[in-house]
Amino acid sequence: MQTVPPLFAAADSLGAKGGEGWRVLQGDSLHLLPQLPDCSADLIFADPPYNLQLKKELYRPNMTRVEGVSDEWDKFSSFAEYDSFCEKWLVQCRRILKPSGAIWVIGTYHNIFRIGRLMQDIGYWLLNDIVWNKTNPMPNFRGVRFTNATETLLWAKKSEKARCVFNHKTMKAENGGKQMTNVWRIPLCGGKERLRDSSGKKLHSAQKPEELLRRVILSSTKSGYIVFDPFLGSGTTVAVARMLGRTGLGVEREEKYAKIAADRIANVPPECLAQPDKPENKPIPLASETPPALVPKRPPENAAARNAV
Ligand SMILES: C[S@@+](CC[C@H](N)C(=O)[O-])C[C@H]1O[C@@H](n2cnc3c(N)ncnc32)[C@H](O)[C@@H]1O
Repeated sequence: MQTVPPLFAAADSLGAKGGEGWRVLQGDSLHLLPQLPDCSADLIFADPPYNLQLKKELYRPNMTRVEGVSDEWDKFSSFAEYDSFCEKWLVQCRRILKPSGAIWVIGTYHNIFRIGRLMQDIGYWLLNDIVWNKTNPMPNFRGVRFTNATETLLWAKKSEKARCVFNHKTMKAENGGKQMTNVWRIPLCGGKERLRDSSGKKLHSAQKPEELLRRVILSSTKSGYIVFDPFLGSGTTVAVARMLGRTGLGVEREEKYAKIAADRIANVPPECLAQPDKPENKPIPLASETPPALVPKRPPENAAARNAV
């Protein structure tokens, strides 16, 4: 008989939805995280609000509006309010993380420096900063700054003395036998992977590429490990965790995104799921450092986009 991991048991008691090896819990992380058990996740991936402080709409030279991140979930009244928010979830994540676990947090120049400082103050031990170099960044339409072509991922363990997984050989093999660097050249999420409604509008403004999550999860976990995402958005983390034979739980505050994520995760096509006859570390090819990044086998049509809202 299969036992339910304590993280899933707690999530279920809070009303999580899901299936074999995955759950989506709808609600506010600040409220829900304190109710999840200590030391119950092997890997935490967090893609929190950026606090972009966008004041005006942005238009291209042809006057079409840029679909950037201007959502309500990204609005904070001050740096102090944002810092207080981040401190709360980072403290909870550290409590939820197993002593052997790792956390990855992604952000832009707007928030990642604040988060890095908080992480060190809270007791995390930083292992690397990984630069996601976008191979197809959005231009700086007004031409007043450099084109912003990067986001930063902070990879950390629970404390200085803790030990966590790093699948060094796998990552080296995936990089053509050369040690992988901390610069990852991966395109923005697009094509069939990008979830859109029937009019072509993005279902989530901040959907991350699966390739990015694939590298994070493959480098830091083994088969069956429990992955947790406190800001699930469109569900990328848990969908990729499923593809790689890991177990995943995500929390998302907005009802519409929680539904989009659950539909997407439930509809990961069987051919994208890790197969028992394939060695754990070689289920899906990773991109080399050379763009364009490889994306694993995809469904002919995006099932989540078809089913959502
Ligand atoms: C940057 S997006 C995550 C995108 C995600 N990585 C993806 O690939 O789709 C941040 C998400 O966090 C959610 N969020 C913001 N504040 C939250 C909170 N307090 N609790 C739970 N979710 C929250 C937002 O609704 C948004 O969907």
